[in-house]
Amino acid sequence: MRWHEWRWRLPRRQGRCCAQALTALGYLQHALSSRSRADVELAVYAARGRLPPAVRALLAGLGPPRAQAVHEEGTWFAALSKQQAQEIAPGIWIDPTGRQRLPPCAVRLHLPPLPAFGDGQHPTTRLLARWLAASDLGGQRVLDLGCGTGILGLIARLRGARRVDFADADPHAVRACRQACRLNGYPGARVWRGDLLAAVPPDRSCDLLVANLYADLVLRLLADPRLPSCTGRLWLSGIARRAAGGVRRALRRAGFQIVKEEDADDWWIGIAAERRA
Ligand SMILES: C[S@@+](CC[C@H](N)C(=O)[O-])C[C@H]1O[C@@H](n2cnc3c(N)ncnc32)[C@H](O)[C@@H]1O
Repeated sequence: MRWHEWRWRLPRRQGRCCAQALTALGYLQHALSSRSRADVELAVYAARGRLPPAVRALLAGLGPPRAQAVHEEGTWFAALSKQQAQEIAPGIWIDPTGRQRLPPCAVRLHLPPLPAFGDGQHPTTRLLARWLAASDLGGQRVLDLGCGTGILGLIARLRGARRVDFADADPHAVRACRQACRLNGYPGARVWRGDLLAAVPPDRSCDLLVANLYADLVLRLLADPRLPSCTGRLWLSGIARRAAGGVRRALRRAGFQIVKEEDADDWWIGIAAERRA
């Protein structure tokens, strides 16, 4: 498959707003990187050059891109995999090659570029990565719902989870997650494809459900009658600040109390909740 890439150099604030707007539209194939103290570079990718109309309209407002290119998937991913390893939560390093030198005591997650969300760059992923990295999950069963590459569930596994299940609606994500599980010594992981809890067998429960999902999906999850038998503990990220009130109310309606909230950045928040006794 061929991937098209467009790049814009933008003032930092405009670049961030644009990346957040793309994410809010559900379009995740983009990346923001610093170019100077004042500027960022926004890169947008599209398989076969196909952009949804709403994304095209948003990008039209930026004017012509500074650069554009077409990549063959294999060579492009090979180039991306030369990136440096990065610490995305204290002690947890994402290594695209699996072979890079890391500081002593670093915990390595081998995550090559995969065609799914979850390379550890996004603040909503990092927020849950930090919570997981700071927890002892010894013996627990975790469900990573909307797993993308599986990054969060794999960190849960590194933190001692006895069993981690994964689910995502996107077939690319399911394949990417299976590959990431194999690369990180968890070949037997169950990775299901489907819409939220419909993907998960009805008798499968967990001690902790982690989900980096937009608020509209979280609201659907909280209204799902299968949720009570699935879990009593939720860690949610990916909730736009303006949608947080609705999520808090839905949590209360579903019988949960909020035990923690944290900003991922000035746009997104994370919420931890437990079922009321
Ligand atoms: C923001 S990404 C999070 C990926 C990864 N867990 C992370 O934190 O980086 C959201 C993921 O949810 C998946 N998703 C979207 N709608 C879904 C649905 N209805 N059911 C299950 N997964 C869904 C997307 O395919 C995507 O992989």
